[in-house]
Amino acid sequence: THVVTENCINCKHTDCVEVCPVDCFHEGPNFLVIDPVECIDCTLCVDECPVGAIYAEDDVPKGQEKFLDINAELAPKWHVITRKKDALPDAEKWDGVPGKLELLDR
Ligand code: F3S
Repeated sequence: THVVTENCINCKHTDCVEVCPVDCFHEGPNFLVIDPVECIDCTLCVDECPVGAIYAEDDVPKGQEKFLDINAELAPKWHVITRKKDALPDAEKWDGVPGKLELLDR
């Protein structure tokens, strides 16, 4: 599977959802997750994310391994999103800010 990681939090650009052939993105208040049951590892979303938040599970950066469980846990709880919408208002400001996991709104 592919995994949405920390830098999506408070950015949520949503470009990723438009290219997903299996509609496996699910939307929360300030983050998106990929449903690992549905993801076919097409890799199309990786280059779409303006802030580089999406990784193949084997390439998840050190310290962000917990996002594997977070994607799997939240996907069934959140609705599917297939159309791009506006990024969160302060997306630019939050790009690259460390420690955003504690801001994840479930
Ligand atoms: Fe998040 Fe990047 Fe998609 S910021 S919503 S993973 S385009």
